[in-house]
Amino acid sequence: MPTIIDGKKTSAEIKEEIKARVLEIKAEGGKTPHLAAILVGNDGASQTYVGAKVKACEYVGFESTLVRLEETISEEELLKTVEEINENPDIDGLIVQLPLPKHISVEKVTNKIKPEKDVDGFTPSNVGRMALNWPAYVAATPYGIVELLKRYEIETSGKHCVVIGRSHIVGSPMSILMARNGYPGNATVTLTHSRTQNLPEIARSADILIVALGKAEFVTADMVKPGAVVIDVGIHRVPDSSKKSGFKLLGDVKFDEVEPIASAITPVPGGVGPMTIASLLYNTLLSAEKKVYG
Ligand code: GUN
Repeated sequence: MPTIIDGKKTSAEIKEEIKARVLEIKAEGGKTPHLAAILVGNDGASQTYVGAKVKACEYVGFESTLVRLEETISEEELLKTVEEINENPDIDGLIVQLPLPKHISVEKVTNKIKPEKDVDGFTPSNVGRMALNWPAYVAATPYGIVELLKRYEIETSGKHCVVIGRSHIVGSPMSILMARNGYPGNATVTLTHSRTQNLPEIARSADILIVALGKAEFVTADMVKPGAVVIDVGIHRVPDSSKKSGFKLLGDVKFDEVEPIASAITPVPGGVGPMTIASLLYNTLLSAEKKVYG
């Protein structure tokens, strides 16, 4: 039977660790970590995500500030809001929830966030620092995967790691993290994408397969080497009349088929997903304790 890599349990453990550290900081008379989130517009999924982030802050004892802005806000006004938070010494971390309305440049807004407060790890400064193996805020999803590999003591050195998907948020940073000198890391990495030829064959040669391309049940059993470690980043809502909610959640991996041949696998839901908020809280704690930029 493969190891089921339990992200729900692991993220709960990390939250308890952070909560305990916050109590220590407060007892020492230190500053309470404070996360600010900017949410533009009324996108349902974004509201849910930001709501969960604020709730998680409360749970671990952080302060949080949610700034809600109209869908029609100008780019200039949003940049001004970012700047105000940048300059507010009480706020340790700032995230701008994506996606943003089409008339606003994500690049401009991201680049306006002070790297020292960029707990999403999206700014060029933090992506560069991560690639150089310097102290950095690593984006929530890749950082969550790194933490799962560590806590489940998955051997990565000298292994062939195949990453499917080259997004800026997951695939690309994941490939860098797995190749860098350290643990987890020291893997031989192949980054595959929509133009890759012989993808099933390459996937089948992976000791560690990280799947983040955003297609429901894309990876089937014939694409997985027996004994591989499989990390599934996908999450898709599909209608299911047998469920009370009316839908079920699927990953990028056909779980029922792949699970019996893997040595370890993340489920969906309850795998990588729950780790992302834990990573964001962890980065905010690092910022409050000045552990990344000093
Ligand atoms: N939208 C989807 N995922 C994320 C994330 O990790 N951070 C932000 N800011 N927006 C997102």
